[in-house]
Amino acid sequence: MKNAKNNSRREWFKKGALAAGALALTPMDIWGKAVEEASVKKQKFIFDAGYGGLNEFTPPKFPDLSTVKARLLWNENPYGPSPKASIAFQKAVYEGNHYSWNSLGNLVDKISKKEGVSPQQIMMGPGSSDLLEKTAMVYFKNGGNVVCGDPCYMSLVHVAKASGGDWKPVKLTKDFQHDLEAMEAAIDKNTKLVYITNPNNPTATITDTKKLYDFCERVSEKVPIFIDEAYIELSEGGLANSMAPLVAKGKNIFVARTFSKIYGMAGLRIGYMLGNAESLKKINEITRGGMGITGPTIAAASASMEDEVFLSECKSKITYAKKFTYNLLNEKGINYLPSQTNFVLFPIPLKGDEFLEKIYEHKVVVRTFNFWDQDWCRVSMGTEEEMNYFAKAINEILV
Ligand SMILES: Cc1ncc(COP(=O)(O)O)c(C=O)c1O
Repeated sequence: MKNAKNNSRREWFKKGALAAGALALTPMDIWGKAVEEASVKKQKFIFDAGYGGLNEFTPPKFPDLSTVKARLLWNENPYGPSPKASIAFQKAVYEGNHYSWNSLGNLVDKISKKEGVSPQQIMMGPGSSDLLEKTAMVYFKNGGNVVCGDPCYMSLVHVAKASGGDWKPVKLTKDFQHDLEAMEAAIDKNTKLVYITNPNNPTATITDTKKLYDFCERVSEKVPIFIDEAYIELSEGGLANSMAPLVAKGKNIFVARTFSKIYGMAGLRIGYMLGNAESLKKINEITRGGMGITGPTIAAASASMEDEVFLSECKSKITYAKKFTYNLLNEKGINYLPSQTNFVLFPIPLKGDEFLEKIYEHKVVVRTFNFWDQDWCRVSMGTEEEMNYFAKAINEILV
């Protein structure tokens, strides 16, 4: 047992260390060709945002989570929450008889200082999904369309459709960035919102910051733009890639952030959205942002904003797990997409449900997608132990 552990530890270090060099070899050209080939075929876009509504295959029965050895499915941070956040959460339970408007107001002030915007330019919610969905409900209640990437995260799009809106997906470029030119061309008189997930889910890729900034600054004069930055802290430049400065400049742009990813608080449910004060007022009048957030969660979020050491340690461990994964996939000759998030997407040579059935047998849970006539696996970055289980499963399934 001890030996097995040492071996897998050696594997972990070996893969992590080798990957930096291997990364340089990642052939984006091969991708370019694959994307071009896929785009001449009939565009097929099947994506399940967790609602099942857009999913054309039934995933195999999920293993009992208590038996799972590697939970690599929801892009969670395995190291969170920060110990400071956990202590603050527990202390705040004793204040549970009160509504939390005061502490929420203090958190909003803290966020306003961090982001350089006024408190009126901030709306809080129990997770950023809540804010994506509320925005969609308000913007699409009288129809219209949302221009977004293909593929992208579907939460906002799904609610836009359910509220009566249409969906105008625009294929990502061959290097998996948002095709800003094509997105601008897709805007018509019925477009109510442009939605951009940056970095993107499920591709894990980022759109060039300068190009995106210029696009947002110019195009937001015509139509509001929603930038979902759930993974921005995990990208190479971190917050320097954010579009928040445009909100500070008063542009008609929304920027959504979450405590679910780098902060490791997915189960505690808190996120926020920055936006033009008038636009946020329009959403707040109907939906009331902060009502669904508990006092302990607010206390935990506030404490973790101050725990810079925890955040940078998480980012380093996640970066290391990515290198381990790249190396594993390089060994298998699989052209993964270099990740700017805490997950990695790679093509699989078998059907998504077949792959899931096999990997579930190893008690490893990941996610599969089908888009552009290709099946893909998305694996979230877990602990060393989880990544070793994943590697073992991949080595047995993709021989
Ligand atoms: C791109 C993106 N946006 C938003 C969310 C929602 O996160 P939460 O509601 O936990 O803040 C997720 C979750 O995976 C995501 O991937």
